[in-house]
Amino acid sequence: MKILLLGSGELGKEFVIAAQRIGQTIIAVDSYENAPAMQVAHAFEVINMLDGEALDRIVAKHQPDFIVPEIEAIRTERFYDYEKQGITVVPSAKAANFTMNRKAIRDLASKELGLKTANYRYATTAEELQKGVEAVGMPCVVKPLMSSSGKGQSTIKTESDIEKAWNYAVEGSRGDVVEVIVEAFVKFNSEITLLTVVQNNNPTLFCAPIGHRQERGDYQESWQPARISDKDLYEAQDMAEKVTEALGGAGLFGVEFFLADDGVYFSELSPRPHDTGMVTLAGTQNFNEFELHLRAILSLPIFEITLEKVGASAVILASENSTNPTYTGIEKVASLPKTDFRIFGKPTSRPYKRMGVALVNDTLETPIEEVVEKAKKAASLVTVNS
Ligand SMILES: Nc1ncnc2c1ncn2[C@@H]1O[C@H](COP(=O)(O)OP(=O)(O)OP(=O)(O)O)[C@@H](O)[C@H]1O
Ligand SMILES: [Mg+2]
Repeated sequence: MKILLLGSGELGKEFVIAAQRIGQTIIAVDSYENAPAMQVAHAFEVINMLDGEALDRIVAKHQPDFIVPEIEAIRTERFYDYEKQGITVVPSAKAANFTMNRKAIRDLASKELGLKTANYRYATTAEELQKGVEAVGMPCVVKPLMSSSGKGQSTIKTESDIEKAWNYAVEGSRGDVVEVIVEAFVKFNSEITLLTVVQNNNPTLFCAPIGHRQERGDYQESWQPARISDKDLYEAQDMAEKVTEALGGAGLFGVEFFLADDGVYFSELSPRPHDTGMVTLAGTQNFNEFELHLRAILSLPIFEITLEKVGASAVILASENSTNPTYTGIEKVASLPKTDFRIFGKPTSRPYKRMGVALVNDTLETPIEEVVEKAKKAASLVTVNS
């Protein structure tokens, strides 16, 4: 099959490697040359993926069987047309289009499907935000409708934060929409990603839940399995099944939930492998999340997903700007037992940019906290030099 991959970061790279192993053809696309997934693909294209005409041009040129989005910032409205042309958009045009804008997915989850979410409002001006804050109460979280990785996101604790939050959200907004969501702050005890695999002719399967810790809008460590009660897990699985079914198509979804004293809250979802799911690269499962996504897309039956080991991932971040990043400390990581790593091969770095990941696994009886600590320690041994 010919697969057009839209977005060529580290998650795309692992997906391409999985696809290469079973003989698929990949054209990797991004806005800059030498992106991680391009380094392992058959061919590449450099375009602005928010430009519908540029997208049309490369789709017409390559005539792919599948279009696999790896990021949100794509002119996803065009996807409906590609579906009509007989191309399979993964997991579906609707899933990609609804999740690029927080409003579409949140209204679907909350209003249409009745899933429990934080109380929320939308605002297109600072005055509307003021009203929204009154409605949901403080503290509350403001996010641009179009953004990811925590960009433009802030927490309002007092009245005087409102205007700051509005301006920050407008600055961090992607695309042509200037609108924000304001939602009640959920005092969660933990948050999880539930990797959910929707198959074409077989039942939907769930991976063991993944716990994670967020800082500055990006995950720092993730671990599998996360501690969760059976009741909360069934509730999360039920919600994940409902929302993925409503979005349609086949593939792996990363469904995000908050676990609070008063139950499970649906937060958001990625209709594709999730960054916190990189923990599966530690060999925690019979198939990692990229292999599962690929199999589901190609309608290759997945009989079961088994948890083989417990594991953790910890990110390796850059601290400086560079156009030629190099790495020290790799030998130290390599010398550690039950430890592995990835360096993504990104051509440039800037402070806090994710450049690699440390991966640790252990037997199923091992306390998960120990494994997380080892992964953090391993990641801290690597320095990204400019
Ligand atoms: N209502 C909320 N209450 C408490 N914490 C929140 C709330 N909304 C978001 N957060 C925190 O901020 C993080 C990022 O939020 P969210 O996932 O909505 O944004 P994002 O920019 O789409 O992130 P990403 O693209 O990295 O998944 C969450 O994982 C959670 O830790
Ligand atoms: Mg998120």
